[in-house]
Amino acid sequence: MSLRLGILFSRIRVEEKLLIEEATKRGVQVVKVDSRQLTMGLNGSYEFDVLLERDVSHSRTIYALNLFQNSGIKTVNSYEVALVCGDKVATTKALEDAGIPSPEVRVAFTRETALQAIEEIGYPVVLKPVVGSWGRLLAKINDRDAAEALLEHKEHLGSYYHSVFYLQKFIEKPGRDIRAFVVGDETICAIYRASEHWITNTARGGGASYCPVTTELDDLCLRSAAAVGGGVLAIDLMETADGLLVNEVNYTVEFRNSVDPTKVNIPSRIIDYVISVTKE
Ligand SMILES: Nc1ncnc2c1ncn2[C@@H]1O[C@H](COP(=O)(O)OP(=O)(O)O)[C@@H](O)[C@H]1O
Ligand SMILES: [Mg+2]
Repeated sequence: MSLRLGILFSRIRVEEKLLIEEATKRGVQVVKVDSRQLTMGLNGSYEFDVLLERDVSHSRTIYALNLFQNSGIKTVNSYEVALVCGDKVATTKALEDAGIPSPEVRVAFTRETALQAIEEIGYPVVLKPVVGSWGRLLAKINDRDAAEALLEHKEHLGSYYHSVFYLQKFIEKPGRDIRAFVVGDETICAIYRASEHWITNTARGGGASYCPVTTELDDLCLRSAAAVGGGVLAIDLMETADGLLVNEVNYTVEFRNSVDPTKVNIPSRIIDYVISVTKE
């Protein structure tokens, strides 16, 4: 019987279409699992052998992965990896524990201590939601006036996640950062993301171009991937005069803008990897 691959999603984007195409080409039976239609018991039975998580919602993904794994289904990525990568504090801790160079970070829980932490780091400081992506709700704080105003607004408007202040030293990077893709034990390709704006996400208009996978980049990426638990990961790095810094590790990898500049068939590599883990 052919391998049955579940794909967890809430929207079929370009990425999911390409992944489904690659799986179908290999004779894999694709079972679409729409998280909006799903009800789950603690120990359900499912009609697929392995699950690839592709849901845009972090909260849905972590709860679903936990329950799929509990039912004996192998998932890519794992629940544990999603927990670490979906939370910037957990990612920073994992990177730090593994001795991977990353920007200085402080965490605070009140407006007063956040201001203190900002001043300890020194301006400019970047304030980020602990859970979030696509460059949303990031704030570059250039001086004390901005810090005070921003923290007051956060305190007033903030939901649960905004009550944790993740504060990071602003890195003077050269108008771009690096996004590298790790699949299993290989850094398969990387792009530069260039922008006039300090936020370089392609979702925010950053332009993608080919970036060579140097030994330094490869080494840092593989170590970062291992530090968070491994799998299919996208690693954000910044270039400095003292070498590369790892900013974050993403677990539901978006690659639509990266296939052309790298000439690497990323969805094909992902599907090969998912098939390979079913044989472990
Ligand atoms: N400390 C920083 N210094 C300089 N630029 C940063 C810093 N943190 C983030 N950026 C820029 O903002 C982008 C988004 O930040 P990131 O931490 O990856 O958040 P997200 O999860 O929203 O992608 C990065 O790709 C980078 O261009
Ligand atoms: Mg990012």
